[in-house]
Amino acid sequence: MKNELKNMFTEHWKYFAVNAACKLNLFDALENSKTVKELANELNLHEKNLVTLLSALCNNDFLKYTNSKFSLTAKSELLTDKHPESLKYACMNWAGEHLTAWQNLDYSIRTGQSAFENLYQSNFFDYLDKHPDKLGDYHKAMFEYARDDYKHLPELVDFSVHKSVLDCGGGYGAAINAVKEKFPQIECYLFDLPKVVESIKVINIQKIGGSFFETIPQVAEAIILSRVLHDWEDEKAKLILQNCFAALPKGGTLYVIENCADKINIDLSLLSLNMAVMCQSFERTSTEYIDLVQSARFVFQKNIKLNELQTVLIFKKL
Ligand SMILES: C[S@@+](CC[C@H](N)C(=O)[O-])C[C@H]1O[C@@H](n2cnc3c(N)ncnc32)[C@H](O)[C@@H]1O
Repeated sequence: MKNELKNMFTEHWKYFAVNAACKLNLFDALENSKTVKELANELNLHEKNLVTLLSALCNNDFLKYTNSKFSLTAKSELLTDKHPESLKYACMNWAGEHLTAWQNLDYSIRTGQSAFENLYQSNFFDYLDKHPDKLGDYHKAMFEYARDDYKHLPELVDFSVHKSVLDCGGGYGAAINAVKEKFPQIECYLFDLPKVVESIKVINIQKIGGSFFETIPQVAEAIILSRVLHDWEDEKAKLILQNCFAALPKGGTLYVIENCADKINIDLSLLSLNMAVMCQSFERTSTEYIDLVQSARFVFQKNIKLNELQTVLIFKKL
């Protein structure tokens, strides 16, 4: 038991070794196997410390060492830019400001306020707006999660009943891309903050920049609101929902996609703490989401399980 505890205290070191390798583009540089010297020269690194890092990566199955050369394993291939299912930015996301906020979790537990906001004097999305390099990295990370999470969305939800769909707070467009791919006849819109939509390319999808706290464009019969409400406490979430209501025509549909704690077998408490430190929000149950969305005059229709984490809650504007 004591050893288990002692090991747990430093478990994060493994993640930081891998995170450093991603930040240094070390896995990308190992597309072809290389010696320490070759790597140190190419990436301009301190050779002795590099040897220690490479050794830690080998011992944790992130690298192989044969004939004096280091090469990638299946795990580290997934952390290269080139891999079509790369998780490189997802890996890097949890260091930086996320980590700094987590180090101040006690502040959030004491005050009920976001540790991030206390440290950076800004909410997370305003902070990203002022730091374009971080904005890009965050959205690439979200996309790497979303690409996997929304893969089966168009098979499970019949979007073909709509002529037009808007993905509100859609980030780099993983959900709306999946919809457009399966239903090319649907007019698709991606709505997010101006700097977010400016920084991406989407095909056959119309990009619209704006804020869902101000107004959401009245262009579609259906709105997808995925992993948006969990970023906001009830009052702000209600404002987004009221703007969705105003944007939809009578008979319009709202798809809320969230991690509903009561619909899955995964414990969401750590994820909920992440929302508390970053955004002063929390993961909700399906009943809490339904109450919240119905408070903006929508009527709940049904729910569909999307994957082991997420549920689609379907609402109508009657
Ligand atoms: C957690 S991400 C979810 C992204 C995507 N829907 C997904 O499921 O991966 C929240 C999104 O809300 C967007 N967002 C934050 N504030 C916004 C605002 N005021 N107006 C529009 N979009 C906003 C962010 O830029 C981000 O893309």
